[in-house]
Amino acid sequence: MPSKKVLITRLIPNIAKTMLTNAGLEVMEWQGDGPMTQPELIERAKQVNALLSLGADKLDKHFFNQCSHLDIIGQFAVGYDNIDVEAATSAGIPVSNTPDVLSEATADVAFGLMIAVSRKMFFNHKTIIRGEWKQFEPLKNLGFQLSGKTLGIFGMGRIGMMLAKRCQGAFDMKVIYHNRSHNTEAERLYGATYVSFDELIRESDVLSIHCFLSDETRGLFNREVFSKMKPSSIFINTSRGGVHNETDLIEALNQGLIWGAGLDVTNPEPMKPYNPLLEMPNVAVLPHIGSATVEARNGMARIAARNIISFYQHGEVPNCINRQVLKGRKS
Ligand code: GLV
Repeated sequence: MPSKKVLITRLIPNIAKTMLTNAGLEVMEWQGDGPMTQPELIERAKQVNALLSLGADKLDKHFFNQCSHLDIIGQFAVGYDNIDVEAATSAGIPVSNTPDVLSEATADVAFGLMIAVSRKMFFNHKTIIRGEWKQFEPLKNLGFQLSGKTLGIFGMGRIGMMLAKRCQGAFDMKVIYHNRSHNTEAERLYGATYVSFDELIRESDVLSIHCFLSDETRGLFNREVFSKMKPSSIFINTSRGGVHNETDLIEALNQGLIWGAGLDVTNPEPMKPYNPLLEMPNVAVLPHIGSATVEARNGMARIAARNIISFYQHGEVPNCINRQVLKGRKS
């Protein structure tokens, strides 16, 4: 039987290629500096059996119409909002992601943003670059202390739990959360309390978003929500930019509906260098680096490859999102 071919759609840690090759799979890699256009992706995907994809690959209905022959998609990310999972399921294609391995790294970024915003760190850094550091300022650029404040988590999965752990350990913060279901582990380990969505947004001093982007969460954090938050609160988003309405966020900050914001994801991405958020003292923005540690990226490469290999070797995909397609399917 000719060996199965896997297309890796960007250069990622080499461990993925090594694992796939060692498992007897033939690997093709897109070596370009950025993602392929969708026509390029479709053209190359037609020549392979499996795809190791990244978040910038548009795997929509059109893609699956053109590439229904694919055996499996192994996404190199925990988020998969770039993939029309329903269309993949209709085509009988299992889709997998890489949870857990990036939870610590992403929680670190949320934690860092929270501290950076509360002390206006990015803004203060810029004052030095602009030559504005002249003397000690007793009354200027004051932030606030996080100790004892309330952390609100929207989406209490692994990343939310890692943030709760950090905030409780470092600042003895009270943790409240809203989720589709109760997370008893977070309640037991970090004393987290389940609250309604309304209570979450009203009570949080720091509100941190850790949900998937879906029809339910798209644009959820908008003017109406910001207007119900405390004027002293900080909004943190390290999930997907599409979850917040950026125009509303800018307005909310300008009008003092909320105090500050820390974003690792923006809407749209990439953010333009002249975005007003970048000039606001109480705002810190990063270019989507949540999983950007050597440990997390190696883990993501390993898990994405393992999902594909396991499919071919055992007909099983450990991190399958649409598990129903595996039933009765022979690899
Ligand atoms: C990164 O944003 C991911 O979803 O893994």
